[in-house]
Amino acid sequence: MTTGYETDEAFARKLDSEDPLARFRDRFYVPKGTIYLDGNSLGLLCKDSESPLHRVLDEWRVLGIRGWLEAKQPWFYFAEELGAMCAGLVGAHPNEVVATGTTTVNIHQLVNTFYRPSGKRKKIIADELDFPSDIYALKSILQLRGMNPNEDLILAQSADGRFLEEHEIINLMGEETALVFLPSVLYRSGQLLDIQRLTEEAHRRNIPIGFDCCHSVGSVPHRFDEWDLDFAVWCSYKYLNAGPGSTAFLYVNKRHFNREPSLAGWFGCIKEKQFDMSLRFQHAPNAGGWQISSPAILGSAPLEGSLRVFQEAGIGALRDKSLRMTSYLIYLVDRLLTKEPYIFSVGTPREETRRGGHVAIEHEEALRMGEALRSRGVIPDFRPPNILRVAPVPLYNRYHEIWQFVQHLKDIVDKKEYERYSKTRKAIS
Ligand SMILES: Cc1ncc(COP(=O)(O)O)c(C=O)c1O
Repeated sequence: MTTGYETDEAFARKLDSEDPLARFRDRFYVPKGTIYLDGNSLGLLCKDSESPLHRVLDEWRVLGIRGWLEAKQPWFYFAEELGAMCAGLVGAHPNEVVATGTTTVNIHQLVNTFYRPSGKRKKIIADELDFPSDIYALKSILQLRGMNPNEDLILAQSADGRFLEEHEIINLMGEETALVFLPSVLYRSGQLLDIQRLTEEAHRRNIPIGFDCCHSVGSVPHRFDEWDLDFAVWCSYKYLNAGPGSTAFLYVNKRHFNREPSLAGWFGCIKEKQFDMSLRFQHAPNAGGWQISSPAILGSAPLEGSLRVFQEAGIGALRDKSLRMTSYLIYLVDRLLTKEPYIFSVGTPREETRRGGHVAIEHEEALRMGEALRSRGVIPDFRPPNILRVAPVPLYNRYHEIWQFVQHLKDIVDKKEYERYSKTRKAIS
């Protein structure tokens, strides 16, 4: 709903004064002099993450290798502990989630585990708006399995380059489909897919289904167990604020704990047997069984603090504020930035049930607008061809920052400030 808002600054201040989550902003380091709206790419450092990270460094200094069992949070069990802490955010049982690897490696791990082609059932369904790494992974999996990605990877098409229609994806699910792997929230438009409906329809056809939830976990509540999806992966450096390259997560539905992990490695062993050093791999009967290597303790430690903040704030309250913020932003763009000379448009679903945590604002000069914003200390990101992605994060952004963002954008157009910038994209935008 984008009604009930007003365009003036006092209204933004009023929204902040009524915000029950406003106190959490002080738990984060917001870079000085910036309006940070890029938490869907890299979340900010949470102050609560510092002490677990320092503690682990200290334990390494004092305990050396003994840290694996004698650290306050023994490193040997840390990945499973963090998985249990994250399970509430996705509606899973604590032993169905583990902190491990990276998103793309976890895609390789779980897609390979669940992709069991037989006879003519050998195709994987994904979509053409997927994050590229997912498609690279799916193609290479097919190639390694002797399939032909040009024939065996079916990409659901988008009519407008922004959105996908669930019924069209469902229409693709057929007797030749061996697996469906989709994003929860599309990384460009911010569309939230109906995970429950897609899962029901896949299962009705005996097709396993998994989701890449990088753009939803920590922003949108999920009920994985209730919806009964087969598997999921997500990163922790976006909404979960665990730092650049921090350890990712995977979810395996407990119905599948007896399946053999496709990419075996010694950290997937039953814990009590791992150091038997047997050459026979016996995987742990929980999500931990899908780990491969020694957990990156330093890259995981910040999660201990940031996940505690999520538990304190509650994902339901965070989602309420996130929707209120994105609705307010859409309202301001509609009211102030759609007419000449601004001509911005919103490329994100207006229905709240179809929206993730960010808003795609489209403009043919989006690249240079992004540069102009950054030089004013306003940080969105740019995604080609014409999108400024703006993520007001409920833990640390203010409504007033959304209002300021829109004023900056308006002023940049009024002064034609974007024309000073190059049309060539930097290595990262
Ligand atoms: C939707 C999605 N999937 C996969 C990835 C790749 O993640 P990683 O670098 O952890 O493999 C990203 C990275 O931003 C992403 O947004």
